[in-house]
Amino acid sequence: MIRIEDLTIGFDNQIVLKDINLTIPNNQNTLIVGQSGSGKSVLIKSIEGLIKPWSGKILINETDIFSIKSKMMNSIRKKIGMLFQESALLDSFNVFQNIALPLKEHTKYSEKEILNIVNKKLKLVGLDNILHKMPHELSGGMKKRVALARAIVLEPEYIIYDEPTTGLDPTNANEIISLITELQNKLNITSIIITHDLECIKRTAGKIVMLSSQKIIFDGNWQDFNNVSNYEVKKFLGKL
Ligand SMILES: Nc1ncnc2c1ncn2[C@@H]1O[C@H](COP(=O)(O)OP(=O)(O)O)[C@@H](O)[C@H]1O
Ligand SMILES: [Mg+2]
Repeated sequence: MIRIEDLTIGFDNQIVLKDINLTIPNNQNTLIVGQSGSGKSVLIKSIEGLIKPWSGKILINETDIFSIKSKMMNSIRKKIGMLFQESALLDSFNVFQNIALPLKEHTKYSEKEILNIVNKKLKLVGLDNILHKMPHELSGGMKKRVALARAIVLEPEYIIYDEPTTGLDPTNANEIISLITELQNKLNITSIIITHDLECIKRTAGKIVMLSSQKIIFDGNWQDFNNVSNYEVKKFLGKL
């Protein structure tokens, strides 16, 4: 579980998030939504330990991540997989090398074991026979899948998806959403999904957290989100 307590984050004189309290429960999806600039990326970067808050705490499995030594922080970071918006595959590495990278950096597995793990993860994301393909030979949807295989290769407890369907055509977007829910069930992973995509919000059916004006203005399920009379929420849902 991730718990955020009285979190205030800003830059210079600008406050981005003020006195935020939030629980991200285990083994389900939490969706972070809000207008561009509302602090979604700042929030997840602080969860990854990349942005230090002005005040407040972030507890990952009850450990306050800003009160520990960097060595321990690294072991906590390994619990979090990240799917970047642009997939962020290394262009000069083939599919195998891209997915194997975290294993080579963080584990002592043999080449044979690494190949075995990479093949298993590729299978999980619905890909086969593409170990030697280069990123430029892959479609947008395939790149996302390869990036997803890389994000789960160290078997993280948490995975953060930054706008997983943005830039994909509807078919690929739908497939990625199916994959997110499938992985969530298969791997018992805790997913944090940043998205604008209503289809993604509906289908991943998680806890919805909406940020606006430095605050959490909604924290609840889809049904309540859909019925709330808040102006910002209605605008987000296209009802105004
Ligand atoms: N490293 C930074 N330095 C200064 N300001 C930043 C930095 N990162 C984000 N901000 C500001 O914080 C606010 C929230 O940004 P961000 O979290 O990226 O929004 P979004 O919800 O679109 O992901 C914006 O006003 C942005 O300009
Ligand atoms: Mg962002």
